[in-house]
Amino acid sequence: MIAGSLPAIGCAAGAGRREILHDPPLTLNAPDDWCVFWYTHNMKMLNKGYWKNVPADLTISADIRLSPEELSPIIRGGRALDIGCGDGVLAEWLSRQGLVVSAIDINQNAIENNKQRKTEVSYSLQDITAGTSFKENLFDLLCFKYTLTNIDREEWIAVRREVIRITKKGGYIWLAEPLVSKDYQKRYALSKKILGESNVIYVFKNSNDASRIQSSEQLQQALSDGLVSRIVRHFTRKELEEIFSDFNILKERIEVITSPSGYKIETLVALLQKK
Ligand SMILES: C[S@@+](CC[C@H](N)C(=O)[O-])C[C@H]1O[C@@H](n2cnc3c(N)ncnc32)[C@H](O)[C@@H]1O
Repeated sequence: MIAGSLPAIGCAAGAGRREILHDPPLTLNAPDDWCVFWYTHNMKMLNKGYWKNVPADLTISADIRLSPEELSPIIRGGRALDIGCGDGVLAEWLSRQGLVVSAIDINQNAIENNKQRKTEVSYSLQDITAGTSFKENLFDLLCFKYTLTNIDREEWIAVRREVIRITKKGGYIWLAEPLVSKDYQKRYALSKKILGESNVIYVFKNSNDASRIQSSEQLQQALSDGLVSRIVRHFTRKELEEIFSDFNILKERIEVITSPSGYKIETLVALLQKK
Protein backbone atom coordinates (compact mmCIF):
# COMPACT_ATOMS: atom_id res chain seq x y z
CA MET A 1 0.00 0.00 0.00
CA ILE A 2 2.76 2.43 0.87
CA ALA A 3 5.89 2.91 -1.14
CA GLY A 4 8.83 3.90 1.03
CA SER A 5 8.87 4.15 4.79
CA LEU A 6 6.14 5.32 7.09
CA PRO A 7 6.61 8.40 9.17
CA ALA A 8 7.60 7.48 12.70
CA ILE A 9 4.51 9.09 14.18
CA GLY A 10 2.19 6.52 12.56
CA CYS A 11 3.96 3.52 14.02
CA ALA A 12 4.72 4.93 17.41
CA ALA A 13 1.22 6.13 18.16
CA GLY A 14 -0.35 3.13 16.42
CA ALA A 15 1.06 0.64 18.88
CA GLY A 16 -0.77 2.32 21.74
CA ARG A 17 -4.11 2.74 19.95
CA ARG A 18 -4.78 -0.81 18.89
CA GLU A 19 -7.48 -1.71 21.42
CA ILE A 20 -9.24 1.65 21.18
CA LEU A 21 -9.82 1.40 17.45
CA HIS A 22 -10.95 -2.21 17.26
CA ASP A 23 -12.65 -4.42 19.72
CA PRO A 24 -11.73 -7.18 19.36
CA PRO A 25 -8.38 -6.06 17.93
CA LEU A 26 -7.76 -6.98 14.30
CA THR A 27 -5.26 -9.71 13.60
CA LEU A 28 -2.54 -8.28 11.44
CA ASN A 29 0.31 -10.22 9.95
CA ALA A 30 3.32 -8.16 10.80
CA PRO A 31 4.15 -5.01 12.74
CA ASP A 32 4.45 -3.13 9.46
CA ASP A 33 0.90 -4.09 8.45
CA TRP A 34 -0.37 -2.65 11.68
CA CYS A 35 1.49 0.60 11.13
CA VAL A 36 0.06 0.95 7.63
CA PHE A 37 -3.45 0.16 8.83
CA TRP A 38 -3.27 2.53 11.78
CA TYR A 39 -1.89 5.30 9.68
CA THR A 40 -4.48 4.98 6.92
CA HIS A 41 -7.39 4.60 9.30
CA ASN A 42 -6.44 7.59 11.40
CA MET A 43 -5.78 9.84 8.45
CA LYS A 44 -9.28 8.99 7.20
CA MET A 45 -10.70 9.87 10.62
CA LEU A 46 -9.37 13.38 9.95
CA ASN A 47 -12.41 14.44 7.98
CA LYS A 48 -15.17 14.05 10.53
CA GLY A 49 -13.02 15.53 13.29
CA TYR A 50 -12.21 18.46 11.04
CA TRP A 51 -15.78 19.19 9.93
CA LYS A 52 -17.31 18.81 13.38
CA ASN A 53 -15.04 21.45 14.82
CA VAL A 54 -14.08 24.06 12.24
CA PRO A 55 -15.45 27.61 12.55
CA ALA A 56 -18.62 28.02 10.51
CA ASP A 57 -16.99 30.31 7.92
CA LEU A 58 -14.64 27.49 6.86
CA THR A 59 -17.60 25.42 5.66
CA ILE A 60 -18.39 27.86 2.84
CA SER A 61 -17.69 26.68 -0.70
CA ALA A 62 -18.43 27.85 -4.24
CA ASP A 63 -21.78 29.53 -4.69
CA ILE A 64 -23.48 27.22 -7.17
CA ARG A 65 -27.28 27.03 -7.28
CA LEU A 66 -29.89 25.14 -9.26
CA SER A 67 -30.37 26.64 -12.72
CA PRO A 68 -33.96 27.50 -13.71
CA GLU A 69 -34.03 24.28 -15.79
CA GLU A 70 -32.81 22.22 -12.83
CA LEU A 71 -35.35 23.80 -10.50
CA SER A 72 -38.30 23.59 -12.89
CA PRO A 73 -39.34 19.94 -12.29
CA ILE A 74 -39.40 20.41 -8.50
CA ILE A 75 -42.92 21.26 -7.37
CA ARG A 76 -43.45 24.45 -5.35
CA GLY A 77 -44.30 23.57 -1.78
CA GLY A 78 -42.30 20.33 -2.10
CA ARG A 79 -39.90 19.26 0.64
CA ALA A 80 -36.14 19.66 0.19
CA LEU A 81 -33.15 18.61 2.28
CA ASP A 82 -29.70 20.20 1.97
CA ILE A 83 -27.13 17.67 3.18
CA GLY A 84 -23.96 19.29 4.56
CA CYS A 85 -25.58 22.72 4.36
CA GLY A 86 -22.63 24.72 5.76
CA ASP A 87 -23.63 28.39 5.97
CA GLY A 88 -27.17 27.72 4.73
CA VAL A 89 -26.97 29.89 1.60
CA LEU A 90 -28.33 27.18 -0.69
CA ALA A 91 -30.96 26.01 1.82
CA GLU A 92 -32.30 29.53 2.34
CA TRP A 93 -32.31 30.21 -1.40
CA LEU A 94 -34.35 27.02 -1.94
CA SER A 95 -36.76 28.20 0.73
CA ARG A 96 -37.18 31.50 -1.14
CA GLN A 97 -38.00 29.45 -4.27
CA GLY A 98 -41.08 28.12 -2.47
CA LEU A 99 -39.78 24.83 -1.07
CA VAL A 100 -40.17 23.59 2.49
CA VAL A 101 -36.54 23.15 3.43
CA SER A 102 -34.64 21.15 6.05
CA ALA A 103 -30.87 21.35 6.25
CA ILE A 104 -28.39 19.20 8.14
CA ASP A 105 -24.71 19.35 8.91
CA ILE A 106 -22.26 17.78 11.38
CA ASN A 107 -20.74 21.20 12.09
CA GLN A 108 -22.33 22.54 15.24
CA ASN A 109 -20.93 26.05 14.72
CA ALA A 110 -22.63 26.36 11.33
CA ILE A 111 -25.94 24.93 12.56
CA GLU A 112 -25.99 27.23 15.58
CA ASN A 113 -25.16 30.31 13.47
CA ASN A 114 -27.81 29.42 10.91
CA LYS A 115 -30.45 28.99 13.59
CA GLN A 116 -29.79 32.56 14.79
CA ARG A 117 -31.14 33.94 11.51
CA LYS A 118 -34.84 34.44 10.97
CA THR A 119 -35.51 31.90 8.23
CA GLU A 120 -38.05 29.26 7.31
CA VAL A 121 -35.35 26.59 7.05
CA SER A 122 -35.35 23.87 9.68
CA TYR A 123 -31.70 23.28 10.66
CA SER A 124 -30.43 20.28 12.60
CA LEU A 125 -27.14 18.69 13.57
CA GLN A 126 -27.18 15.34 11.80
CA ASP A 127 -24.72 13.03 10.08
CA ILE A 128 -25.96 11.61 6.77
CA THR A 129 -23.72 8.54 7.22
CA ALA A 130 -25.36 7.66 10.53
CA GLY A 131 -28.98 7.70 9.31
CA THR A 132 -31.19 10.72 9.88
CA SER A 133 -34.31 11.39 11.93
CA PHE A 134 -36.46 12.01 8.84
CA LYS A 135 -39.25 9.62 7.97
CA GLU A 136 -39.25 7.44 4.85
CA ASN A 137 -40.14 8.85 1.42
CA LEU A 138 -40.33 12.39 2.79
CA PHE A 139 -38.32 14.50 0.37
CA ASP A 140 -38.96 15.70 -3.17
CA LEU A 141 -35.40 16.98 -3.45
CA LEU A 142 -32.06 16.23 -1.77
CA CYS A 143 -29.01 18.43 -2.35
CA PHE A 144 -25.31 17.61 -2.01
CA LYS A 145 -22.98 20.54 -2.69
CA TYR A 146 -19.31 19.71 -1.95
CA THR A 147 -20.47 17.33 0.78
CA LEU A 148 -19.90 13.87 -0.67
CA THR A 149 -16.35 14.87 -1.50
CA ASN A 150 -15.67 14.91 2.24
CA ILE A 151 -17.18 11.50 2.95
CA ASP A 152 -14.97 8.41 3.02
CA ARG A 153 -15.48 5.71 0.41
CA GLU A 154 -16.34 3.22 3.17
CA GLU A 155 -19.36 5.35 4.05
CA TRP A 156 -20.83 5.77 0.57
CA ILE A 157 -23.00 2.70 1.11
CA ALA A 158 -24.54 4.24 4.24
CA VAL A 159 -25.18 7.50 2.37
CA ARG A 160 -26.79 5.61 -0.49
CA ARG A 161 -29.05 3.64 1.86
CA GLU A 162 -30.22 6.79 3.63
CA VAL A 163 -30.77 8.72 0.41
CA ILE A 164 -32.98 5.95 -0.96
CA ARG A 165 -34.91 5.74 2.31
CA ILE A 166 -35.81 9.42 2.63
CA THR A 167 -36.44 10.34 -1.04
CA LYS A 168 -39.92 9.95 -2.51
CA LYS A 169 -40.38 7.71 -5.55
CA GLY A 170 -39.84 10.06 -8.50
CA GLY A 171 -38.04 12.50 -6.18
CA TYR A 172 -34.84 14.30 -7.18
CA ILE A 173 -31.23 14.69 -6.14
CA TRP A 174 -29.32 17.78 -7.16
CA LEU A 175 -25.60 17.49 -6.73
CA ALA A 176 -22.56 19.66 -7.27
CA GLU A 177 -19.49 17.53 -6.53
CA PRO A 178 -15.92 17.57 -7.89
CA LEU A 179 -14.84 15.29 -10.70
CA VAL A 180 -11.33 13.95 -11.19
CA SER A 181 -9.57 17.01 -12.62
CA LYS A 182 -6.41 17.45 -14.69
CA ASP A 183 -4.80 20.01 -12.37
CA TYR A 184 -4.73 17.49 -9.52
CA GLN A 185 -2.98 14.54 -11.19
CA LYS A 186 0.29 15.06 -9.27
CA ARG A 187 -1.49 15.46 -5.96
CA TYR A 188 -3.58 12.32 -6.56
CA ALA A 189 -0.38 10.38 -7.25
CA LEU A 190 1.30 11.63 -4.06
CA SER A 191 -1.72 10.81 -1.90
CA LYS A 192 -2.05 7.37 -3.46
CA LYS A 193 1.42 6.48 -2.22
CA ILE A 194 0.24 7.07 1.34
CA LEU A 195 -3.43 6.06 1.28
CA GLY A 196 -3.44 3.51 -1.54
CA GLU A 197 -6.57 5.15 -2.94
CA SER A 198 -6.99 6.88 -6.30
CA ASN A 199 -8.24 10.43 -6.82
CA VAL A 200 -7.96 11.62 -3.24
CA ILE A 201 -5.95 14.62 -2.12
CA TYR A 202 -4.64 15.93 1.12
CA VAL A 203 -5.82 19.45 1.89
CA PHE A 204 -3.27 21.61 3.66
CA LYS A 205 -4.04 24.09 6.42
CA ASN A 206 -1.96 26.63 4.50
CA SER A 207 -3.03 26.58 0.84
CA ASN A 208 0.55 27.52 -0.27
CA ASP A 209 1.71 24.06 0.85
CA ALA A 210 -0.29 22.45 -1.96
CA SER A 211 2.21 23.54 -4.62
CA ARG A 212 5.26 23.44 -2.29
CA ILE A 213 4.89 19.75 -1.45
CA GLN A 214 6.07 17.71 -4.42
CA SER A 215 7.41 14.40 -3.07
CA SER A 216 6.08 11.66 -0.83
CA GLU A 217 8.89 12.41 1.66
CA GLN A 218 7.71 16.02 1.88
CA LEU A 219 4.11 14.89 2.20
CA GLN A 220 4.97 12.44 4.98
CA GLN A 221 6.87 15.22 6.76
CA ALA A 222 3.89 17.56 6.35
CA LEU A 223 1.62 14.88 7.82
CA SER A 224 3.92 14.37 10.78
CA ASP A 225 4.11 18.14 11.29
CA GLY A 226 0.30 18.43 11.38
CA LEU A 227 0.12 20.62 8.25
CA VAL A 228 -2.71 18.61 6.72
CA SER A 229 -6.29 19.42 7.63
CA ARG A 230 -8.25 16.73 5.81
CA ILE A 231 -8.64 14.50 2.76
CA VAL A 232 -11.06 15.05 -0.08
CA ARG A 233 -12.15 12.77 -2.89
CA HIS A 234 -12.73 13.66 -6.49
CA PHE A 235 -15.11 11.39 -8.33
CA THR A 236 -15.17 9.60 -11.62
CA ARG A 237 -18.57 9.83 -13.26
CA LYS A 238 -18.83 6.06 -12.88
CA GLU A 239 -18.42 6.31 -9.10
CA LEU A 240 -21.21 8.88 -8.86
CA GLU A 241 -23.40 6.72 -11.09
CA GLU A 242 -22.75 3.76 -8.78
CA ILE A 243 -23.54 5.67 -5.58
CA PHE A 244 -26.78 6.90 -7.14
CA SER A 245 -27.60 3.84 -9.23
CA ASP A 246 -31.24 4.01 -8.07
CA PHE A 247 -31.54 7.36 -9.84
CA ASN A 248 -31.49 8.41 -13.50
CA ILE A 249 -29.40 11.41 -14.53
CA LEU A 250 -31.79 13.93 -16.14
CA LYS A 251 -29.58 16.97 -16.62
CA GLU A 252 -25.90 17.68 -16.18
CA ARG A 253 -23.34 20.42 -16.67
CA ILE A 254 -19.74 21.11 -15.67
CA GLU A 255 -18.80 24.16 -13.60
CA VAL A 256 -15.09 24.88 -13.35
CA ILE A 257 -14.15 26.50 -10.05
CA THR A 258 -10.76 27.53 -8.68
CA SER A 259 -9.60 26.16 -5.32
CA PRO A 260 -7.89 28.39 -2.70
CA SER A 261 -4.56 26.90 -3.90
CA GLY A 262 -5.31 27.99 -7.50
CA TYR A 263 -6.16 24.54 -8.91
CA LYS A 264 -9.06 24.21 -11.35
CA ILE A 265 -11.76 21.79 -10.19
CA GLU A 266 -14.27 20.42 -12.65
CA THR A 267 -17.52 20.16 -10.76
CA LEU A 268 -20.35 17.97 -11.97
CA VAL A 269 -23.68 19.69 -11.44
CA ALA A 270 -26.46 17.19 -12.05
CA LEU A 271 -30.14 16.60 -11.50
CA LEU A 272 -31.10 12.97 -10.88
CA GLN A 273 -34.50 11.36 -10.47
CA LYS A 274 -35.36 8.32 -8.36
CA LYS A 275 -36.36 5.37 -10.53
C1 LIG B 1 -17.11 21.98 1.78
S1 LIG B 1 -18.40 22.19 2.96
C2 LIG B 1 -19.75 22.62 1.87
C3 LIG B 1 -20.85 23.32 2.58
C4 LIG B 1 -22.02 23.75 1.69
N1 LIG B 1 -22.71 22.62 1.12
C5 LIG B 1 -21.53 24.65 0.59
O1 LIG B 1 -21.40 24.17 -0.56
O2 LIG B 1 -21.23 25.83 0.85
C6 LIG B 1 -18.82 20.51 3.40
C7 LIG B 1 -19.91 20.45 4.45
O3 LIG B 1 -20.33 19.10 4.63
C8 LIG B 1 -20.50 18.88 6.02
N2 LIG B 1 -20.39 17.43 6.26
C9 LIG B 1 -19.28 16.67 6.15
N3 LIG B 1 -19.57 15.39 6.43
C10 LIG B 1 -20.90 15.35 6.71
C11 LIG B 1 -21.78 14.31 7.08
N4 LIG B 1 -21.33 13.06 7.24
N5 LIG B 1 -23.10 14.60 7.31
C12 LIG B 1 -23.53 15.89 7.17
N6 LIG B 1 -22.73 16.92 6.83
C13 LIG B 1 -21.43 16.65 6.60
C14 LIG B 1 -19.39 19.70 6.65
O4 LIG B 1 -19.56 19.93 8.01
C15 LIG B 1 -19.43 20.96 5.80
O5 LIG B 1 -20.31 21.92 6.29
